[in-house]
Amino acid sequence: MPLSSSSTSSTKSIRRAPSELERSDSITSQRFLGRRQSLIEDARKERASEQIVFEEDDGKALLNIFFTLRNSKTPALSRTLKVFETFEAKIHHLETRPCRKLKDNQEGLEYFVRCEVHLSDVSTLIGSLKRNAEDVKTTKEVKFHWFPKKIADLDKCHHLVTKFDPDLDQDHPGYTDAAYRQRRKMIGDVAFRYRHGESIPRVEYTEEEIGTWREVYLTLRDLYATHACSEHLEAFRLLEKHCGYSPDNIPQLEDVSCFLKERTGFTLRPVAGLLSARDFLASLAFRVFQCTQYIRHASSPMHSPEPDCVHELLGHVPMLANSTFAQFSQSLGLASLGASDEDIEKLSTLYWFTVEYGLCKQNGEVKAYGAGLLSSYGELVHSLSDEPEVREFDPDAAAVQPYQDQTYQPVYFISESFADAKEKFRRYVAGIKRPFSVRFDPYTTSIEVLDNPLKIQGGLEGVKDELKMLADALSVLS
Ligand SMILES: [Fe+2]
Repeated sequence: MPLSSSSTSSTKSIRRAPSELERSDSITSQRFLGRRQSLIEDARKERASEQIVFEEDDGKALLNIFFTLRNSKTPALSRTLKVFETFEAKIHHLETRPCRKLKDNQEGLEYFVRCEVHLSDVSTLIGSLKRNAEDVKTTKEVKFHWFPKKIADLDKCHHLVTKFDPDLDQDHPGYTDAAYRQRRKMIGDVAFRYRHGESIPRVEYTEEEIGTWREVYLTLRDLYATHACSEHLEAFRLLEKHCGYSPDNIPQLEDVSCFLKERTGFTLRPVAGLLSARDFLASLAFRVFQCTQYIRHASSPMHSPEPDCVHELLGHVPMLANSTFAQFSQSLGLASLGASDEDIEKLSTLYWFTVEYGLCKQNGEVKAYGAGLLSSYGELVHSLSDEPEVREFDPDAAAVQPYQDQTYQPVYFISESFADAKEKFRRYVAGIKRPFSVRFDPYTTSIEVLDNPLKIQGGLEGVKDELKMLADALSVLS
């Protein structure tokens, strides 16, 4: 559970890794500064305010321009290219596609040009283009939170929330145990040093740590048969068979990560403690689960105020081995990229009432699938008792439901199935206001921002290929 459900609160402190780089809060990379065209002294400021302009140190601007040219005998293209030549614009990218919307049914081409030009020439260049081409547009400037685009960018997503840190929280069972705090820090430092692509360092757990694990393991395993959902039970059986899950062994994250990779494409990366909601959710977009490696204090085997390897390995990992649940988790992550602070808080609350504390119906019975339940004997029993209120899963309601991180939840949400929860969540996400959509490319393990029609067209080509492949498969079967 390395997720702070309300990390946007200003009352919480954020700890950074020593090597952390400052990050920009806009779509711009560190190379560019987002600036509005209004910097340019030009009379047509209304139009200029629609242009996306990234200012570089040398006074150059980067523009995304769309325009349409009709197919005609007049050399419209050469005249238009002459405009770029006149202003010494350096063209970085040029694409065309058939135009579908000319009013008089004439044929034409739509153009997308990404070019670099001196700031002082931007407005004049746009004006000149409008004399030669139709529908001249530039993409609007938008600002939103930085988010990782490549899986290696997750190296920058390790902002911790210190709410339950044993060095600071006097209620933490290890607060007065200097040796425990030193041990936890040592394992946490391994996570801080970890970089994408490396094997997760193995931890040689002590006899005391294995004893803590054994006590929880045996207690919970007995309860799973009656309280855990079938997906958890099935994965747990496989983890015991293939991944070193046993009362006498704390599984290594590297082995578990390889297991998950083969099942659903999820991988683990070590994290040093409770992660900020934005960073944690962002990692899910890449099918990466940020996972603590230290274990709870021996004096409190049945409870930990912060996430630890017992919670991750017994609660989260078995569920991430299920493909539908994995897809649901990734959807949560994708919805969070670039989202507002308000939406991040809603998404993390949704995560809380599903991935952490969700219930589901199976064969007429209520079962637990939330990791917070499946790693806590007391709350697992409580959640399926007559005490708490249980409501049908409704993302709009769950996103704003007050939650409890100090004791058992008074309210749980129950889903008909993971597929049903996923569909409801899909409709919820459609209501989140973002000026773009994103797509995960599994081949490059990167995020593509779908912020112009050409990128969307590229995505559709991929969908068409997949549909064709599936249609062929159906044809063979029939
Ligand atoms: Fe968790």
